[in-house]
Amino acid sequence: MHTTTPGPAGPAISRLGLGCMSMTGSYGPADPDEAAATLLEALDSGVTLFDTGDFYGDGANEELLGRTLAPHRDRVVLATKTGVRRTAEGLVPAGSPDDLRRACEASLRRLRTDHIDVYYLARVDPAVPVEESVGALAGLVAQGKVGRIGLSEVSAATLRRAHAVHPISAVQTEYSLWERHVEDAVLPTLRDLGAVLIAYSPLGRGLLTGAVRRATRYERGDFRATAPRYNGDDLEANLAIVEAITRLAVARGTTPAQVALAWLLTRGSDVVPIPGSSRRPHLRDNLAALDLQLTAADLNAIDAAVPAAGAQGARYGDHGIRMIDR
Ligand SMILES: NC(=O)c1ccc[n+]([C@@H]2O[C@H](COP(=O)([O-])OP(=O)(O)OC[C@H]3O[C@@H](n4cnc5c(N)ncnc54)[C@H](OP(=O)(O)O)[C@@H]3O)[C@@H](O)[C@H]2O)c1
Repeated sequence: MHTTTPGPAGPAISRLGLGCMSMTGSYGPADPDEAAATLLEALDSGVTLFDTGDFYGDGANEELLGRTLAPHRDRVVLATKTGVRRTAEGLVPAGSPDDLRRACEASLRRLRTDHIDVYYLARVDPAVPVEESVGALAGLVAQGKVGRIGLSEVSAATLRRAHAVHPISAVQTEYSLWERHVEDAVLPTLRDLGAVLIAYSPLGRGLLTGAVRRATRYERGDFRATAPRYNGDDLEANLAIVEAITRLAVARGTTPAQVALAWLLTRGSDVVPIPGSSRRPHLRDNLAALDLQLTAADLNAIDAAVPAAGAQGARYGDHGIRMIDR
């Protein structure tokens, strides 16, 4: 497995990481035994970067990783996120220094470790200056409880303010062949600062694999039921893009998931996709993208298949959009 190095001078990480969120049910139910087997197979296949969050499954996701990966801790780059908490209205920001310090202790317990390799502020709390949130994370670095600091879904301006307090090693943002907003300002900025881009939802929350069809009815608790992009007329328009990518994949003798991931891998060695998978067949499909070389003609065909504005429809519902720093 190829590796890349997150700045500044972070540990080497595998070219593809494993997103673990769906292992506790964000896109419908998941089988915990199969999820654990997927974690171990990923590790044996050379994946080192494992991505979770303290709010995934309300802590259950971190517990699954702790239970399964603790015996292999020295081979794992463990990345988790905090800075939000669940209320009746959904997740809300919780980025005060006390919130972050408390959350870190709880994550360490659930992950069965004494340090987190990459600790992200999942969302900037508009009620707390980012300098204060990052200052608290820097305190955790000083105590040896955290290795590197990351941010998720931040503007370029916020990234610079945060970096002035403590080096930011990684920025995690949605990035895929149909969601390219990060290219405008955040990607050039993080390159300037020497951070890596961790591309989340690189498979368009599963749609770019061809797994969602017109007749699909999302199960209870599936995030995709809540955002315009995955429903109604927007879904209809987006499935036409998926069909075009699938035709290209078939012509190349590969799968649409591999085309989506191979496209991200062409964006630079500082772009690390973290496809989410809770099943071994999906993991195997995704890792095979490392061997797929897209040609200039393939890249042109992808650009022709995807409208300049990317996928149609907002990627979050109103509540989720309000949580994003702009
Ligand atoms: N920072 C943030 O705000 C944020 C937001 C969202 C996600 N994330 C992180 O990013 C990771 C990846 O994003 P994501 O999980 O949202 O979306 P994704 O990687 O775009 O898609 C995941 C979905 O695709 C399915 N899938 C994966 N590989 C497949 C394949 N080869 N064929 C068919 N289906 C396949 C998965 O199903 P199975 O589970 O059944 O394998 C899952 O339902 C998450 O796990 C999480 O760690 C971060």
